[in-house]
Amino acid sequence: MAKLKVAVLISGSGSNLQALLDMCAAENAPAEIVRVISNVPTAYGLERAKQAGVPTTVINHKDYDSRESFEDALNQMLDSENIKMICLAGFMRLLTDSFVQKWKDMLINIHPALLPSFKGLHTHERAIEAGVKFHGATVHYVRPNMDEGPIIIQACVPVLPNDTADELGKRVLEQEHKIYPLALRMIAKRQVRVSAEKVVYNGVDNLMESMINPEG
Ligand code: GAR
Repeated sequence: MAKLKVAVLISGSGSNLQALLDMCAAENAPAEIVRVISNVPTAYGLERAKQAGVPTTVINHKDYDSRESFEDALNQMLDSENIKMICLAGFMRLLTDSFVQKWKDMLINIHPALLPSFKGLHTHERAIEAGVKFHGATVHYVRPNMDEGPIIIQACVPVLPNDTADELGKRVLEQEHKIYPLALRMIAKRQVRVSAEKVVYNGVDNLMESMINPEG
């Protein structure tokens, strides 16, 4: 089976990108990252891509006078590379409905919370403030409403007494690095599809991989 052609969109450090690059580096990996695109010229993730030998492009939203023209540039690049799956990995720009529609079921995101709780920003602070005992991360298909869409994998972590947002965030990020590659691998192996706006699994060796609940 041909490898799934993936583009990863980033805005920052790219530690999730790194996890995806590492997964795709394996010889028998079902997916191949053919381009990394950043809207921020100084994003460290661009270095990570270069070190992995993956071509990079900066499409700086500040160079465009509208969301639409920024996305036209994105689409041009994605279409020219024949991209079949886009992974948002800390990509901090909202996408228009028409971009999301064009890439329906070919566009996934990782969010640092157990959706549908804590959509948006500052999720770790808000989880601590709300007093929840479990927090985590979600990989999901993207839909026009922010941080909504069929859930592929979630991982949960405990919220420990006296946790700071940083400590909790580190615990969550560790899980993000596990579930994002897992989700992309499942998609590339055609083991997940969307039906009636829910993810259906087919041929996944261990379905518990879609629900990670680590100890401690
Ligand atoms: C990650 O925690 C990711 O879940 C989050 O940004 C961080 C990026 O880190 N994404 C969002 O908040 C999207 N709304 P990374 O650049 O090291 O992967």
